[in-house]
Amino acid sequence: MKSSFLLPIILVSIFSCRQPSGHELQLQNRIDSLELKLSSTYKPGFGEFMSAVQSHHAKLWFAGKNENWALANFEIHEIMEALDGITKYQSGRKESKLLPMLDPVLDSMNNAITQKNPLAFEKTYNLLTATCNKCHQATEFGFNVVKIPDQPAFSNQSFQVGKSH
Ligand code: HEC
Repeated sequence: MKSSFLLPIILVSIFSCRQPSGHELQLQNRIDSLELKLSSTYKPGFGEFMSAVQSHHAKLWFAGKNENWALANFEIHEIMEALDGITKYQSGRKESKLLPMLDPVLDSMNNAITQKNPLAFEKTYNLLTATCNKCHQATEFGFNVVKIPDQPAFSNQSFQVGKSH
């Protein structure tokens, strides 16, 4: 009787007074320092992804206008990759929830490129650009206005098929 009354008390006092072992302290220190490292790891910002999207959006135009469909295919996938990066690294930003608004026009652009159709390309490019601006307006970044580029931003890249110099 006496021992069954004492046993829980003994057990509780053993567990509540138990000090973490040296090994456990070591592990906790490692977790703390890893968490600290993780919190200061560099991750690209929303605007940085957008700058990449901007560059590939411009290149896509010149690729399509030159009927360089291999390059156009590359550029549209670079845009999609940058958008995936936003989903992955900027999921905390409320604007990221609006990204799916681009899905239908990205599909249409992929089709135009696969079909090597210059008219469908131009029409879809206009719609793509309008959708970029639609999101900027919806997210209070309407002052970032995207348009069809007049000339390539880079003079060191050729957009013509098979032109190496
Ligand atoms: C889901 C909404 C959304 C869509 C779709 C979108 N953007 Fe953006 N864009 C933003 C937001 C939000 C910013 C401001 C980012 C920041 O906080 O730095 C931005 C910024 C920009 C900027 C300014 C970058 C700078 O630093 O000067 C450019 C250029 C841009 N977007 C281009 C585009 C293009 C081109 C497309 C379409 C292919 C597009 N965006 C589609 C939300 C969007």
